[in-house]
Amino acid sequence: MTRRLVVVGSGIAGLYAALVASDPETGAGSAAGPAEVVLLTKGTLEESNTFFAQGGVSAVLGPDEAAPGDSVAAHIADTLAAGNGLNDPEAVRVLCSEAVRDITALRRYGVAFDLGPGGAPLLGLEAAHSAARILHAGGDATGARIARGLVAAVLERAVQGRLRVQTGTFVTELLTGPAGAVTGVAYLAGGRRGRLDADAVLLATGGAGRLFARTSNPAVATADGLALAWRAGAAVRDLEFFQFHPTTLAAAEVPGGPPPLLISEAVRGEGALLLDAAGRRFMPDYHPAAELAPRDVVSRSIALHLAASGQPADSPVYLDARGIEAGRGSGFLARRFPGITAATRAAGYDWTSEPLPVSPAAHYWMGGVSTDLAGRTTVPGLYAAGEVARTGAQGANRLASNSLLEGLVFGRRAVEDFLGGEVPHNGTAPRASSAAGGLPLTHASAVPLRGSSKKGTSAAPTESFVKSGPEPFSRDALGRLMTAAAGVLRSGVELDAAAAQLSDWAAVVRPETVPDATDTREHEDRNLLLAARLLVDAARARTASLGAHYRTDSTAADAARPSATRPKQRIPS
Ligand code: SIN
Repeated sequence: MTRRLVVVGSGIAGLYAALVASDPETGAGSAAGPAEVVLLTKGTLEESNTFFAQGGVSAVLGPDEAAPGDSVAAHIADTLAAGNGLNDPEAVRVLCSEAVRDITALRRYGVAFDLGPGGAPLLGLEAAHSAARILHAGGDATGARIARGLVAAVLERAVQGRLRVQTGTFVTELLTGPAGAVTGVAYLAGGRRGRLDADAVLLATGGAGRLFARTSNPAVATADGLALAWRAGAAVRDLEFFQFHPTTLAAAEVPGGPPPLLISEAVRGEGALLLDAAGRRFMPDYHPAAELAPRDVVSRSIALHLAASGQPADSPVYLDARGIEAGRGSGFLARRFPGITAATRAAGYDWTSEPLPVSPAAHYWMGGVSTDLAGRTTVPGLYAAGEVARTGAQGANRLASNSLLEGLVFGRRAVEDFLGGEVPHNGTAPRASSAAGGLPLTHASAVPLRGSSKKGTSAAPTESFVKSGPEPFSRDALGRLMTAAAGVLRSGVELDAAAAQLSDWAAVVRPETVPDATDTREHEDRNLLLAARLLVDAARARTASLGAHYRTDSTAADAARPSATRPKQRIPS
């Protein structure tokens, strides 16, 4: 009997998984027989974080193509080091050792990476990588090239009748059977409700950058998959770890508008320096690797340096790429980074002759729906892959260019598990990572969402919130609250105040009325609010700093202990 896989989301994980599932060599040839694949996405196929990715995909290819001396073991070591020991070592091993397989498949689907004069891939260096191992396409247009290649392949399959695509389809609910297994999805399309039965659902909905005021993410990144999974009863994990990219162009922004321009990590990989307003290079004061320190360190150092020099937290620092152009010859920046060159020029900057003002922006959520190595969540019949998932590969801070790779490897693994015919699986909880020391997925510090502050801690709003007073819910207000309280620097007092504010908003953005709403924006608001509350609760529970979670009120570094949260019956969602 044909089994149906519904894939939700059209970033790299969703597109690639749909292709693998409908591939005659995998899908139709599986032991369980051919799968019927339906790909749903709320916007167009191109609207995703993947499309905006500049740097590339990290992968150690075969001996002919890897940088001299590089190895999968080195990629694993770099990933673990950047992740501050919170990674699941087995997930990291899978990620790095299976990369070559999925890069080969990407090429088969028509994605062409940039090649050097000898025909070998041109490999870039990015922060916290010990070797040049970043594959890129179109210079700094890697995500767009990958997305376009995969979209073309998906559409070709759709024309051949081998998979079905529904764009403009917003999934509002995961349908579950009496035993709690996922049996399909409810959705809104063109203002009308629909339902689709499924033998399994793969969530590949991406991230949630729109929780914050400044984000590199496009407007679609509204935590939809996390919220759907949570409401269906799935465990989520490590939600306090949200990565801020250190270098996005500091320019006036339109709330809800296009994201600020990302200035790729690869630019620092080529040798760009960070300067303060006085023109002084400051990163060597904060980390021996300076501009090539892990991303969490660079963003935090910018915030600490601004605070130490008495400047407002949203002041820019400056990215100086002039030395690259001087060292590599006139025209190098335009050839290596054509997109950034054009976009900065359009914004009025000539980065060959002047430093660019840059600021950190919310970029990537390390936490997410907890999965095992086969992409299985704790809910039978529900898979997750890509940014929405917490596979354990990224730890407390993701290594640059490991995100597209994670979407590929674990998207494919989820499909393989589905095609293996084991769905619905037995609902066994994903294994606790070895870093967890065998902790169950729920532990003492994982508590239901709280409306009030923790016992014994002050509920008083911090100055930054008090000044503006209570304000009604809006995306803008949510972004400002999250940036102030749960951004690069955090404190218990601010997090407590944010929790109280979020709880107030949750009572007003009435969740019980939203399931009936036909405006998808209302559903997104509800999802964002739920995700914000989960993130803030996780951040309150981890009182010491670790990776991207930096508490200004903690003196000790935290043990690398994953956090976990499981939905409780009474949680407002
Ligand atoms: C970048 O090009 O700096 C972003 C790539 C990534 O997030 O890994």
